[in-house]
Amino acid sequence: MKRRGLLALATGAGLVALPVGAMAQAYPAKPITVIVPFAAGGPTDALARILCQRMGEALGQQMIVENVGGAGGTIGVAKAARAAPDGYTLAFTHMGTLAVNIALYKSLPYDSQKDFEPIGLGGTNPMVLVAKKDLPAKTFPEFLAYVKANEKKVQYGMAGIGAASHLGGLMLNSMMKVNVLEIPYKGTGPALNDLVSGQFDYMVDQAVNVLPQIQGGNIKALGVSTLKRLPQLPDVPTIDEAGLKGYEVTIWNGFFAPKGTSKEVVAKLNQALLAALGDEKVRARLTELAVALPTTEDATPEALRAQLKASIDKWVPAVQAAGVKPE
Ligand code: MLT
Repeated sequence: MKRRGLLALATGAGLVALPVGAMAQAYPAKPITVIVPFAAGGPTDALARILCQRMGEALGQQMIVENVGGAGGTIGVAKAARAAPDGYTLAFTHMGTLAVNIALYKSLPYDSQKDFEPIGLGGTNPMVLVAKKDLPAKTFPEFLAYVKANEKKVQYGMAGIGAASHLGGLMLNSMMKVNVLEIPYKGTGPALNDLVSGQFDYMVDQAVNVLPQIQGGNIKALGVSTLKRLPQLPDVPTIDEAGLKGYEVTIWNGFFAPKGTSKEVVAKLNQALLAALGDEKVRARLTELAVALPTTEDATPEALRAQLKASIDKWVPAVQAAGVKPE
């Protein structure tokens, strides 16, 4: 019996050997858990739920989001890395938790390049510098002057060391040459609630999360993190044009399965992702939220693996150059 091509299936009658293909054909035979390593209500959660809803329809099984927040997303990502490689537990996470945090933690509970099988890119998010409504600054130059003059009392919100909101904030503060107290949350969903109620002064968060509150007039947008203005916020300057030349931070998000998940299962999940990314309603909703949709070529498992490597090569030295010491 060729061991390689067989998988043992535990059944009531003991172990039954099935050819790998048969297992993959049966997949998914039950709902799939997708770990989002941040609290519900934030950008990662929002993007995950939009994609998982449509992917579940394509797969004929529910994809159920499980929010596992804490430690800048590393707790949730570690849980996914340890899960059985059977295709029933995945992670939906972003480059902060898989690339940037290599420079921010002395030891991580996973190796982002060895412990996962990339499935595909879910979208890339621009970030927006947002401030509480009554912060006495209406423009980025006024914001810069205010923060410099009040460095000791100003506070910025983020979702923990290694979170995207931490990367956005630390790169901004480093280029502004200020050292500002960071207020950590389990996700920028809860952080945003506190910004709206004025509990802290500013945050750099993914547009997918903060756009509705900006459009609702509950917080103010002082700059965007891309080198070109966002069509959804045409009057908001880029931070690059407004005063910090070269400031650019965008956050890719993707699906990952534990190492050892079969190629057939990864391919099935990638097909479901492509179905979601090709769905007109999904595309319209994500575009409204300023999500840059990947092309089909960019949404392959190989493209995501390459994207992860490129982000590690780019952001680890950049964070080290910003003088941030690993915890
Ligand atoms: C972050 O990294 O800031 C997260 O995306 C926040 C979140 O999704 O809650």
